[in-house]
Amino acid sequence: MSAEIIPSILSADFANLERDVRAATDAGIRTVQIDVMDGRFVPNISVGLPVVKALKNCSDAALDVHLMIVEPERWIEPFAEAGADVITIHVEASVHLHRALERIRSLGVRAGAAINPATPAAALSEVLPLLDVALVMSVNPGFGGQRFIDSVLPKITALRAALADVGNGGVVQVDGGIDATTIGRAVAAGAMQCVAGSAVFAAGVPVADAIRALREAAR
Ligand code: DX5
Repeated sequence: MSAEIIPSILSADFANLERDVRAATDAGIRTVQIDVMDGRFVPNISVGLPVVKALKNCSDAALDVHLMIVEPERWIEPFAEAGADVITIHVEASVHLHRALERIRSLGVRAGAAINPATPAAALSEVLPLLDVALVMSVNPGFGGQRFIDSVLPKITALRAALADVGNGGVVQVDGGIDATTIGRAVAAGAMQCVAGSAVFAAGVPVADAIRALREAAR
């Protein structure tokens, strides 16, 4: 069972972002994740619309925008306009999740919903037909380089089965603490996409080698 590796730029060199993303796409990566943090939903501030626009202009990678922000509904159109191919919002931040996911899709963008470690998989049960991506956070969001939380593994398995029942092609994505020692468990549990930031861009080896190590560990 293979899984797609999606590098998160959170741990990339922001002074050389085009170089780092190109190193990933040269290694066969098709999608990168952009972690948008507002300092309110998570205790950190990262990047926003300019980085999405810049990467859209300098890379052919698909852009998976993970909104770790409050009031994500306000930002769907701007991030779609900036070039997002996927927009993932958090269940815990969205008052009208069903409406927000429909809105994302109406703009021709793939829709994702994310759940934090304390949020049950059942929180997504009413919106499964609207999901292109069900993101299971395996860390408490806000920072790269954190330790993988194994207690989320059953949620990956449950959502993989639930999405298969719906049959709309939605995928289960896992994000946080993914490295060569944890990706095997995540894929065995059913993860179809694995987001990795520090294990790709802060691994102390060339990006291509880091990606190769993750692919080998995922098998
Ligand atoms: C929330 C972010 C991180 C990032 C991956 O904290 O979403 O999970 O993408 O970070 P690593 O792979 O370094 O844990």
